[in-house]
Amino acid sequence: EGRCPQEMKKQIIEQTERFVRTELGEDATGHDWFHVDRVRRNALHICKEEKTGEAFIIEMAALLHDIPDEKLNESIEKGEEKLETYLQTIPLTDHDKKHIKQIIATISYKGGQKTELATIEAKIVQDADRLDAIGAIGIARAFAYGGKKGQPIYAPGIQVRDEMSLEEYRKGKSTSIHHFYEKLLKLQDLLNTKSARVMAESRQQMMEAFLEQFYQEWDGQE
Ligand code: ADP
Ligand code: NI
Repeated sequence: EGRCPQEMKKQIIEQTERFVRTELGEDATGHDWFHVDRVRRNALHICKEEKTGEAFIIEMAALLHDIPDEKLNESIEKGEEKLETYLQTIPLTDHDKKHIKQIIATISYKGGQKTELATIEAKIVQDADRLDAIGAIGIARAFAYGGKKGQPIYAPGIQVRDEMSLEEYRKGKSTSIHHFYEKLLKLQDLLNTKSARVMAESRQQMMEAFLEQFYQEWDGQE
């Protein structure tokens, strides 16, 4: 009571940063604190460029977006519970809490869903998360993830320059190079905002150049 709302928001952000650092600190699959921090900064950049969206909601949703991730929790329910429990500790309106949870629940890729997101804040956070999956950082994250899963860098037996067959996909036969065709190269066309598309331009070129050079080196010299 009586505290300036700006000061209050700053404190909530700082408290949330501490919570997320503690929760994600140990993760090495690409969902580490630095990923979250990049998503937050990219999201705020998009918000500024687009001159729309509530910055505070965007920053909170970006900071918390990986907290309920299935990969970091025993189950989806446990992850959602973790987010819910945290949100109960901070002084936000029910409306804001609901909005933050809704953004987080709807932004994940889930096999290429192309449904319109409900709010501009959700669109911006989703774009920021997707930007961090492409470009030089995206390349690094793909191989870090693949290495942790024990999946090969690349398997020349599998047709990768086009999409893999559904059958191969179901068998879970994949490589990190495959992941570029399954997801990473498609993300640019799925972005919601103009500003994110501008940011994606050089990242897309980086991935294309990388794959080109990768195949050249893979084939080796006579
Ligand atoms: P996020 O939730 O941050 O959007 P994901 O949980 O889908 O991303 O994956 C985390 C990181 O691991 C991303 O950079 C993604 O591209 C990468 N990744 C996910 N699945 C694979 C895979 N099968 N092979 C290689 N990289 C992957
Ligand atoms: Ni993420």
